[in-house]
Amino acid sequence: MSHSDDLLWGAVGDLSRFAALLTMAELGLADHLAHGPLDTGELARRCHAHAPSLRRVLRQLASMDVVCPAGPDTYELTAKGAAVRSDVPDSVRSSIRMLGEEGFWYAMGMLPATVRDGSSAFVKRYGHLYDHLAKNPTSSSIFDDYMTRRARPLTEGLAKRYDFPATATMVDVAGGKGHILATVLHANPQMRGILFDLEHVTGHAAATLAAAGLSDRAEVVSGDFFASVPAGGDVYLLASVLHNWDDEDAVKILRNVRQAMNPDGRVLVLEVVLPDDEAPHLGKDIDLRMLAIFNGGTERSRAEYAAVLGQAELKLSDIIELGSGASLIEAVPR
Ligand SMILES: C[S@@+](CC[C@H](N)C(=O)[O-])C[C@H]1O[C@@H](n2cnc3c(N)ncnc32)[C@H](O)[C@@H]1O
Repeated sequence: MSHSDDLLWGAVGDLSRFAALLTMAELGLADHLAHGPLDTGELARRCHAHAPSLRRVLRQLASMDVVCPAGPDTYELTAKGAAVRSDVPDSVRSSIRMLGEEGFWYAMGMLPATVRDGSSAFVKRYGHLYDHLAKNPTSSSIFDDYMTRRARPLTEGLAKRYDFPATATMVDVAGGKGHILATVLHANPQMRGILFDLEHVTGHAAATLAAAGLSDRAEVVSGDFFASVPAGGDVYLLASVLHNWDDEDAVKILRNVRQAMNPDGRVLVLEVVLPDDEAPHLGKDIDLRMLAIFNGGTERSRAEYAAVLGQAELKLSDIIELGSGASLIEAVPR
């Protein structure tokens, strides 16, 4: 078999392996196995599953080294599988659940239809993602959890590698649950923050910031960034926001930020910047998800970010690599 056959058949097999992982995450198998091995019948009873079907999924999971046999018809969690537990700091459970959420799964399966007519099959069926989430609290909470978990390494990179002005006020535009703002404020004890997002999200954000002991330095404001964003900030962070929108909408959001910011303020865009070569890259994986889920959502290259920033009277001033494939793009008024 040639190398290219390996790659192609590997990608085909990945679908079955991902579905096994999704079953593991949805049924909470890793949590049930967290305290020791269980036989398939007992595991099926605890997670309300059909034992013969579960046995076949466990066989696939064992081939991936996330569980391993620990006796006849009995499995235990491996070190790799422990990452699917809900209670570990770098848990991947919510990421797997999000990518396997009904709408996300449908969107990827319908990518050929989306590509055929250039219009997202997800949007046709579910409407805009953020309207869909506003109406579906279960999907919304999986999404918020996923955004929080996946942001952890990036957020730590941001707090460590970016030199924030000591007494700045940062507006976290579309900041989700407030996880990024909380990390930045903890690392910069004199800074203040404003968390801005849609109303159905900000309730959770207020709770996160209060739990982090930041109620005295962080304010929560609800609103629509196409109308306006809170004024008077020194730093405006847009983390994983612009890639959900086409250039026209991205420029509208950036113009509202440009209008609201202090004259010597700066804008920080945290995104995965597409490379100019053909090598495999995280940005290309996420880009197809954006294509599938949003009408106009797209990852961008450095030149493309410079162009949208420029249309909003902002100038790209620096790009800092944050690790895990993400970059921090800094822009200042032009
Ligand atoms: C991909 S999430 C990013 C969340 C957070 N910045 C992070 O990196 O974890 C995009 C966020 O945009 C928010 N959002 C979507 N449309 C919005 C709008 N019109 N006005 C304000 N926020 C919006 C969503 O509620 C969501 O929290």
